[in-house]
Amino acid sequence: MDGNGRWARKGGLIRLKGHESGTQSVRDIVEAAAEWGVGHLTLYAFSVENWSRPKAEVAALMTLLKKFLKKERETLLKNGIALRGIGRLEDLPSSVLDTLREVEKATAHGKKMTLRLALSYGGRQEITDAVKALCQDVTAGKVQAEEVTEDAIACRLYDSEMPDPDLIIRSAGEKRLSNFLLWEASYAEFVYSDVLWPEFRREHLLQAFQEFHGRVRRFGKVLDDTPSLQGETN
Ligand code: IPE
Ligand code: MG
Repeated sequence: MDGNGRWARKGGLIRLKGHESGTQSVRDIVEAAAEWGVGHLTLYAFSVENWSRPKAEVAALMTLLKKFLKKERETLLKNGIALRGIGRLEDLPSSVLDTLREVEKATAHGKKMTLRLALSYGGRQEITDAVKALCQDVTAGKVQAEEVTEDAIACRLYDSEMPDPDLIIRSAGEKRLSNFLLWEASYAEFVYSDVLWPEFRREHLLQAFQEFHGRVRRFGKVLDDTPSLQGETN
C-alpha cells in the first residue's frame, strides 16, 4: 500500500492525512476482495524498514493501526473475515499487539477470507526467523540435517497456513518487491498500478484481476507442442 505520503503532498496535507485516507481504501479493497471470493488477502501495512521513519510518523501509524483494528472488528466478524498478523509482531507497542491478538482471536472462525496484515514485516527477516527456528530444532535433535527441505522452511514461516500469493499488486508506480514475501513470491504474478493508495478502489482491484487473468502461468514448464528437438514431440 504505497503512495500515502505523495497523495497528502499533492493535496497540501500532512503525511498522516494520507495514511488516514488510506484506511478508506483498505476498507473498500477488503470488502470487495471478500465479496469476489478471494480466499487470502495480505496487506503490506508496515515494514521492518518503516521503523526508521520519523518517530512521530511511526507513533501516528501505530495509533492509526490500533484505531483501525478496533473500528473494523465488528465488520470483519459480520463478513466472516479472519484477521491475522504476520511479521515481527513482538516489536509492536504492547497495546497495539494486545488489540491485534484480541481481534485475531475474535475473528479466528471467519471462513470467507483470511486477511493478513504484514506488520513489522520483512521477507529476509521472515526467512531468517524460520531458519533460526529450524536450526534450534536441529540442535535439539528434533530434525536431522537431511530433513532440511523447502517444506521444513515453509512450515516455519510466520503463518504456515498462508498459501503462496498468485498475484502481487503494487500501487503508486513502484516496481520493486521492497522485502515483501520474498520466499512466497517465487511464482507470483505482478501487476503495477500508478494509482496512489488513498485513491485505490475496487475498480483498480478489478483491473488488476483482469490483467492477471490474461497471464499465462507456466511455472517453468513448456505448455505448447513446439518440438524441443528435431523429430521430437512433447
Ligand atoms: C505507504 O505510503 C504507507 C506505509 C508505508 C506505512 P508511504 O508513506 O510510503 O507513501 P509515499 O511513498 O511517501 O508516497
Ligand atoms: Mg512509500
